[in-house]
Amino acid sequence: MNIHILTVLPELLESPLNHSIMKRAQEKGLLQVEIFNLRKWAVNEYGQIDDYQYGGGAGMIMMCEPLSKAINELNNQHQYEEIIYTTPDGDLFDQKEANTLSLKKNLLIICGHYKGIDQRIRDHYITKEISIGNYVLSGGELAAAIITDAIGRLIPGVLNNETSALFDSFQDDLLAPPVYTRPADFNGWQVPEILLCGNQNKIDEWRHEQSVNRTQLKRPELLKEN
Ligand code: ADE
Repeated sequence: MNIHILTVLPELLESPLNHSIMKRAQEKGLLQVEIFNLRKWAVNEYGQIDDYQYGGGAGMIMMCEPLSKAINELNNQHQYEEIIYTTPDGDLFDQKEANTLSLKKNLLIICGHYKGIDQRIRDHYITKEISIGNYVLSGGELAAAIITDAIGRLIPGVLNNETSALFDSFQDDLLAPPVYTRPADFNGWQVPEILLCGNQNKIDEWRHEQSVNRTQLKRPELLKEN
């Protein structure tokens, strides 16, 4: 799978996507993340990619021309299935969306910056607008990293134990159950007896119950969505 990211701050994306699972996914050839600097398509030799907004107001707007040139050039080479724009007014990102996007082969993510991108680019090129939460970040780069991580780990073969993503929180609209490791007794705090009983069916049943209880308690709206 190819995830291409267009940004004015490539440095912000390098570290989060080059460690741990994302690094392994790329080393295994299952995921190719490429980061493109929008300034390559700047309108002048000073690297200009933004300008003042019509109608007045503080903050710069990312211009049509560099974005349009970059998207056309990259899309001609890769035929993206989705051209995603990260923005606080996009659709809220969730596990369902991560699952859907993990089935694609070629994605382009455009990171918003300053006061965002010219509306005409949104109208004519963007196929999906994603927010990672109801708060405003300084730019879309961290959102793009989060989206890439959530998608990348779902690609078959990326996780060591392929089934493990199936048991993640949210995968079936349930939070994950509590987990424990050795020792069975720490400071007199015991691991639940059932996890030591060796009966996998009973353990699975208990974990499911715990998931439902935890979801009811912490995120009841997830149960109501079913
Ligand atoms: N850019 C700034 N804030 C954002 C958010 N919450 N989600 C996605 N992109 C953003």
